[in-house]
Amino acid sequence: MTVIRPVIIGTGHYLPARIVPNSEFAATLDTSDEWIVSRSGIERRHFAAEGEYTSDLAINAARAALANAGVTAQEIDAVIVATSTPDYTFPAVATQVQAGLGMTQGFAFDIQAVGAGFVFALANASGLILAGQAKRVLVIGAETFSRIMDWTDRGTCVLFGDGAGAVVLEAQAGSGANTDRGVLACDLHSDGRYRDLLYVDGGISRTGTAGVLRMQGREVFRHAVEKLAATATSALEKAGLEAGQVDWIVPHQANLRIIKGTAQKLGLPMENVIVTVQDHGNTSAASIPLALSVANTQGRFKPGDLILTEAIGGGLSWGAVALRW
Ligand code: UT7
Repeated sequence: MTVIRPVIIGTGHYLPARIVPNSEFAATLDTSDEWIVSRSGIERRHFAAEGEYTSDLAINAARAALANAGVTAQEIDAVIVATSTPDYTFPAVATQVQAGLGMTQGFAFDIQAVGAGFVFALANASGLILAGQAKRVLVIGAETFSRIMDWTDRGTCVLFGDGAGAVVLEAQAGSGANTDRGVLACDLHSDGRYRDLLYVDGGISRTGTAGVLRMQGREVFRHAVEKLAATATSALEKAGLEAGQVDWIVPHQANLRIIKGTAQKLGLPMENVIVTVQDHGNTSAASIPLALSVANTQGRFKPGDLILTEAIGGGLSWGAVALRW
């Protein structure tokens, strides 16, 4: 039986030039490099320059992904950007990426599922491909979280960073077996009762302002490991696979302790986990495509490798995608 499989044929990423080490925060806040590294694993992060916006980061990552895939922007049918920090309330960042790439064909829209945004975008892009709505989709995660920080709140402002990652997803023929390349299964969840654990305290309809991020870190942490392990297991089960068959976990990069705890719950050693949180901080929806692209650039994935992505963020929203490289 021939089936359609959405296959990642290229990756790319972009990080703003300015690198901010933990020591910079100790100058203005009651914090230390030792606290930040031991509690989160973060050593540095990138911050966008004045005049550099989410769409700029997204366009740079998209260009790199197209080059890596060996396709032109004119061969793309849809652009999806996962972001919670768009340039404007509207239009979507994705339409600015479309214009920036010189595309006049296809369609473009944003997805907002915060830290889980890229997993939601990848699942939606896969759905468009499986439904025959698109043959090639550019899926991007791009954020400028430095624009929604409360710089007096040491519990949050030391954790986040800016950046963008992108993949090109292409419809290819598969056999229907879980040995096929491409997206094999997706598992998505949200539970809006947990809004207060992680949210931004402003917005167009409520306050007419952008607001700043508020987080009950310890509570989010408590939900994270349990929900991530459950959704990862569920994505694998849907594909008829189990954790022992996973070659690489590419997790949302929020906290090294969450990454380790989830891998441990799945019974996988850290050698099988891609970790970039030390260099990027938490870049929300950008963290998984950034990690995918960095690891791909390092030549770590082999064709046929089973890759499991998992993420959680504000909402709460969480999910996982199992795919074969
Ligand atoms: O992308 C969305 C998903 N987000 C996440 O996954 C984040 C989940 N949460 C976390 O990553 C962790 O909870 C944090 C890194 C945010 C915090 O680590 P923790 O081990 O849960 O620390 P805590 O919040 O329980 O705070 C411990 C102590 C507190 O002091 P007391 O109350 O014990 O005296 C905090 O006030 O650490 C204090 N603290 C700090 N100290 C130095 C909080 N932030 C800082 C800081 N520097 N930057």
